[in-house]
Amino acid sequence: MLDTTQRTATAIAHPNIALIKYWGKRDQALNLPAAGSLSLTLGPIHTRTRVTWQPHADARDEVYFDGVQAGAKEVARMSKFLDLVRQRAGITQRAVVHTSNDFPTAAGLASSSSGFAALALAASAAAGLTLSPTELSVLARRGSGSAARSIFGGFAVMNPGVDADGLDAHAHALPPSGWPLRVLIAVTVEGPKDVSSTIGMNQTERTSPYFDAWVKTVAPAIDEATAAIEARDFERLAIAAEASAMQMHASAIAAVPGVLYWRGATVELIHRVRQRRQQGVPVFFTIDAGPHVKVFTTDEHQHEVAAWLSGLPEVIRVIHTEPAPGARLVEPDPT
Ligand code: PMV
Repeated sequence: MLDTTQRTATAIAHPNIALIKYWGKRDQALNLPAAGSLSLTLGPIHTRTRVTWQPHADARDEVYFDGVQAGAKEVARMSKFLDLVRQRAGITQRAVVHTSNDFPTAAGLASSSSGFAALALAASAAAGLTLSPTELSVLARRGSGSAARSIFGGFAVMNPGVDADGLDAHAHALPPSGWPLRVLIAVTVEGPKDVSSTIGMNQTERTSPYFDAWVKTVAPAIDEATAAIEARDFERLAIAAEASAMQMHASAIAAVPGVLYWRGATVELIHRVRQRRQQGVPVFFTIDAGPHVKVFTTDEHQHEVAAWLSGLPEVIRVIHTEPAPGARLVEPDPT
């Protein structure tokens, strides 16, 4: 039986942005990636999640987003994830989960990356489990592939693993680089909701003639990006990251029907960022499963680049982010 001091825990996790993308699964049920990926964890934006295990085994899980009760679909996804923690801790209690993001979901940042990283840590700690970062990464991956990377701060590399049980499919942190990079999220159109990454990946795997070719690009791209980070070579990282984003999207666009996340504004910004770099400004872009463009630069150039982006007709607003630490337990909110 759990003692009362262990029944509640609150965790914070930051989202991350992939420089070398994850796109495709080798196992749907265990959510195992078809290849690795490499990311940078970004703050100060974050998810904050409080999990309280209820004393009675018969109640249902309750989930609140910003204090508002979540719909059945969201609760079902969270409950499935909480089942993994219940199994591991040998408990049958249900949970009350309060979670909030301090960044707009319209930012097109994978809120599932910070969301499942924070949930993995808060739910396991509240259940009295003390999991290592590797174990937390394996657990968070079951909720969302990118969440495995948000357990760690700074640059993280996801290992796709080879084992059928997926226990070797987790992220690890690269040595702290101290590289003062900045990421400016250029929010473009407020369009209809995009095709979810899970559905987009699935369609790409099943129907894109370029999927296998895409998967083959990933391991060498991770080596190249890692070498660029070690050397703090901005241009080299720019080339590797832009290539990975373009190759991921090329594989998705070639699906039938094509999975196309870009809008006109997205394409305009690709051209503009490239042109700006040619003019000598350290900038490069990456794009996830949505129309927004994430622009990397250095701390020295961030204000100039932000002012430039804000003045462009394609950009609705700019969100400033910088390298951030991994998921951690915090004191609960005063209630
Ligand atoms: O973690 P998921 O299942 O939401 O997938 C993330 C997919 C991308 O954001 C497009 C790429 C990545 O590596 O984060």
